Amino acid sequence: MATRHFLTLLDLSPEESHYLIQRAITIKNRLRAQGPTYAPFTNRTLAMIFEKSSTRTRVSFETAMAHFGGHALFLSPRDTQLGRGEPIEDTARVLAEMVDIVMIRTFCHAGLETYAAASSVPVINALSDDYHPCQLLADVMTWTELRGSVRGRTAVWIGDGNNMCHSWINAARQFDFKLRVCCPEGYEPRQDILEAAGDRVTLLHDPAEATIGADLVTTDVWASMGQEEEQAKREADFAGFQVNEAMLDSARPDVLFLHCLPAHRGEEISETLLDDPRAVVWQEAGNRLHAQKALIEFLLLGRVDH
Ligand code: CP
Ligand code: NVA
Repeated sequence: MATRHFLTLLDLSPEESHYLIQRAITIKNRLRAQGPTYAPFTNRTLAMIFEKSSTRTRVSFETAMAHFGGHALFLSPRDTQLGRGEPIEDTARVLAEMVDIVMIRTFCHAGLETYAAASSVPVINALSDDYHPCQLLADVMTWTELRGSVRGRTAVWIGDGNNMCHSWINAARQFDFKLRVCCPEGYEPRQDILEAAGDRVTLLHDPAEATIGADLVTTDVWASMGQEEEQAKREADFAGFQVNEAMLDSARPDVLFLHCLPAHRGEEISETLLDDPRAVVWQEAGNRLHAQKALIEFLLLGRVDH
């Protein structure tokens, strides 16, 4: 089988994307019913390169490999040769001699592409400055679990046109739902990513208008990792873009609220939004485990039907 990488959602076909969501639900149900008995990757290893902080991503990948009978290695630039200037292509070739699959959380998306081009084992994007595709697998899984097929439905992105927003745009393409992206002026997503999605994605600037009749509302922090020094300016620029209960009231009665987490209560969401029954963020976070298990399995084995 040729090496497949997962750097953006577009690395899978729409059909493969649908398969992964259903497979993640199957894997989750089996775990609930039988415990971690499905162990197809005994003694196999996942290298996890983290150049940025993480709670959910690290714990979900590490737990996935433990459940699968394998092992995950946490590698940080602070204590590997990557942090001392070893070329990323060399690191990719060396790790591919030893591990079965690699996960990278980094800043520069082009660096991830360089790494993947030199890697003979699958490489997973665990967040770059431009995309967060693993989070979208969990998000679409959560939406599907709770509401059935997402095709033709309407999601609303409120906030920064960042890595999460870009992946939501790609998800709209892959899963064929409508997406309203609502950002302050100057914080729109990348034009090429937006244009490639065609008319299923629309750009707005008024949150009150954006949420009307929505099936799902989602947001993210105003300053992403690496943008900490812009925090104060962004707080001012994003005034009026806080998602609150009243905004959800203008959506459909069965609207869901997602947030990739970590969240900043009192900034991009109201103090109490995560306590609202329409917010399903804990289920969403837990689904990182199941969605990434399906992804690892797919990249290493292809489709399975058991
Ligand atoms: N949502 C997400 O990727 O969380 P972490 O940064 O904790 O991994
Ligand atoms: N946009 C956020 C997502 C964190 C999971 C960031 O890149 O920091």
